[in-house]
Amino acid sequence: MSSSSFFTQGDARADVDEVPSIGIGMLGYAFMGRAHTNAFHKIGYTFWPPALRPRLVHIAGRNADAVAEAARRYGYDKSTTDWREVVNDPDVQVFDNGGPNDQHLEPTVAAARAGKHVICEKPLGRTADEAFELWSAVAETGVKAMTAFNYRFFPAIRLVKEMLDDGTLGEVRHFRARYHQEWLVDPETPASWRLTKEAAGSGALGDLGAHIIDLARYLVGEPESVSANTATFVEDRPGGHVDVDDAFDAVVRFESGALGTLEATRVAPGRKNHMRFEISTTKGAVIFDQERMNELKVHLIGTTPGDHAQGFRTVLVSETYHPYWENWWPHGHMIGWEDSFVHELEHLLSAIRHDKPIGPHGATLEDGYRCTEICDAILRAADTGERQKISYRGLSA
Ligand SMILES: NC(=O)c1ccc[n+]([C@@H]2O[C@H](COP(=O)([O-])OP(=O)(O)OC[C@H]3O[C@@H](n4cnc5c(N)ncnc54)[C@H](O)[C@@H]3O)[C@@H](O)[C@H]2O)c1
Repeated sequence: MSSSSFFTQGDARADVDEVPSIGIGMLGYAFMGRAHTNAFHKIGYTFWPPALRPRLVHIAGRNADAVAEAARRYGYDKSTTDWREVVNDPDVQVFDNGGPNDQHLEPTVAAARAGKHVICEKPLGRTADEAFELWSAVAETGVKAMTAFNYRFFPAIRLVKEMLDDGTLGEVRHFRARYHQEWLVDPETPASWRLTKEAAGSGALGDLGAHIIDLARYLVGEPESVSANTATFVEDRPGGHVDVDDAFDAVVRFESGALGTLEATRVAPGRKNHMRFEISTTKGAVIFDQERMNELKVHLIGTTPGDHAQGFRTVLVSETYHPYWENWWPHGHMIGWEDSFVHELEHLLSAIRHDKPIGPHGATLEDGYRCTEICDAILRAADTGERQKISYRGLSA
C-alpha cells in the first residue's frame, strides 16, 4: 500500500447532513466526564462517515460553577447540579455516566427508564448485588446499554483477541495481569471518594482490578475459582479513614483449565499507569503494557527444529489492517490512551444506529455485573482465607 493511500480515509464522500445527530447527556465533568467528552468530539471526524454525530446537550456535576465552566469548555448547551435534569431532558438520547461508583445505580436506571441509551463507567456497582440490580432494571427497558471497559478498545488488545480467536496463539495456559499505580504511596495524600467503601465499594480492586478482571474474561473466559489477599497499608489519611484495599493479589483458575494471577495496587512507587498482562499459550505468548500501548511483544513457537528466530519480537500495532487503524494516521503516527474512548463510544453509537448487539467486543451490563461478582469473590477469599467458587446470577425470562 502506498503511503498516499493512508491519507484518503478522510476523503470518503458522505454528506454530513445525512448522518443523524444524537443528543449526549453526561454525568461528571472531571476525569471520565472529560475523557468521554473528548471522545465524542473526535468521533465525528475520526470515523467517516460516523454512525451518528454526537451533539453535546447537557452535563451534570456537583459544583455549579465548575460544571457551568466545564459546559463552556467542553461545548455542552446546558449544565446542572441535578442529574435528573439530564435524564429527563428530551434532547438527550444517550446518558453517559462518568460519576463515582455510588452514583452508578440510580441515575443509570432512571435514564434507561426515561428511554435513554446508557453507558456506565466501571465498576458497574459497588457490590455484585448493586450491579445485578442495575443490569436487571436496565434490561427491562430494552435500551442499548454498555459498561465502559475501555481497554477492550485498545487496538493492540483487540489484536490479541483476534490472535486468540483465530487460533494463532492456540490455547491459553497462563494469564498474568497486574495494574500498578503510585498515587497513594504518600500517607499524606488526602482521602477522597475512592478511599471509602460507601462511595467506591472497594479500593484498588474495583478501581484498577476491575479492568484486568474484565480483560481476563474477555480474552481467556470465565474464572471458576479464586484465592486472594488484600491489604490497606495506610488506614488514616488527611480528611478521612480508609476502609478499602490499597492493594490485592489473586490466584485464579479458569473454567478452561488455564491458570491466572491478578494484582492491583495504588501504592507501587514509580508505577504511573502500569497495566500489563502476559498470556502464555500452547503456541506462543503475548505481552501487553499500557504504557507502550501501541506495541505487543509476541513470541510464536518455531516450527523448525533448532529455529534461531525464537524469542519475543515487538509488533508495532499501527497498520491499516490492525484493529481500528483504518480510521487513524499513517502507520507509526501513534494514537493515545484517550482514543480507546473514541472507539468505545463509537461502538455504542454504532450499536444504536444499526441496532447491533453491544457484545461480544463491547462490555455489556452483564459483563459489568459478572466483573463485580469476581470482585466480591476476591474480597470473600481474602476475608476468609479460603478459595471461593465463582457463580453468576441470570435474569429471569
Ligand atoms: N475507564 C477508565 O479508565 C476509568 C478511569 C478513571 C475512572 N473511571 C471510573 O469513572 C468513574 C468516575 O471516576 P472519575 O475519575 O472521573 O471521578 P472524578 O472524581 O474525577 O469525577 C467524578 C465526577 O462526578 C461528579 N459527581 C459526583 N457526584 C455527583 C452527583 N451526586 N451529581 C452530579 N455529579 C456528581 C463530580 O462533580 C465529578 O465531575 C468511576 O466509576 C471510576 O471508577 C474509569
